[in-house]
Amino acid sequence: MADQTLGPDASRPAKRVADSRTIVTRNVTESDMNGQGRLFGGRLMEWIDEAAGIAARRHCGGNVTTAAVDQLVFHRPAFRNDVVVIVASVTHVGRTSVEVRVDSYVEDIATSRRELLNRAYLTEVYVGEAGRPTPVPFSLTFSNDAEQDEWRAAEQRRRRRAQDRDEA
Ligand SMILES: CC(C)(COP(=O)(O)OP(=O)(O)OC[C@H]1O[C@@H](n2cnc3c(N)ncnc32)[C@H](O)[C@@H]1OP(=O)(O)O)[C@@H](O)C(=O)NCCC(=O)NCCS
Repeated sequence: MADQTLGPDASRPAKRVADSRTIVTRNVTESDMNGQGRLFGGRLMEWIDEAAGIAARRHCGGNVTTAAVDQLVFHRPAFRNDVVVIVASVTHVGRTSVEVRVDSYVEDIATSRRELLNRAYLTEVYVGEAGRPTPVPFSLTFSNDAEQDEWRAAEQRRRRRAQDRDEA
């Protein structure tokens, strides 16, 4: 498909999903492991938060803060010396926030095959220089149907989060 921009304000200049995609590769070391010899869930969460923050800063062009992390499910463990690959992609742009999907994998270095450890959705708020929520200067351009489908699914997730906040 041809590049297409969607969003609450498609008149904003747009960036492609690929422009801010962030890939971080980590080697699981002794200090990343718990007493059972597995990667700490908290360490993976730190790496996820870091990758999402970089992708969001790249998209927004300035400072962001993490407002929320959706449910985190760990699908499989990682062990010492495993290569963990973390891929963060902006999936949606709101008024002052962006949603970032972060997929974490363990990579088999012999075959390059990756197994999913975790998929997380984070809401990052653009806070600009003032440290307050600030309109995101860039909308999002999709280069394929999957990116567009992800945007539509993100709109549902935004509605659900807002409803959860109202109920809370
Ligand atoms: C995130 C924060 C800036 C939001 O401030 P706020 O005054 O509630 O701002 P607003 O109500 O204007 O919301 C700003 C954006 O954040 C989104 N948002 C706010 N709370 C949210 C939540 N709990 N979940 C998902 N999105 C949220 C809003 O939908 C809005 O996005 P939009 O403009 O794209 O629609 C503020 O709560 C904060 O500073 N929290 C601490 C963040 C932090 O320190 N993170 C590091 C981990 S400790």
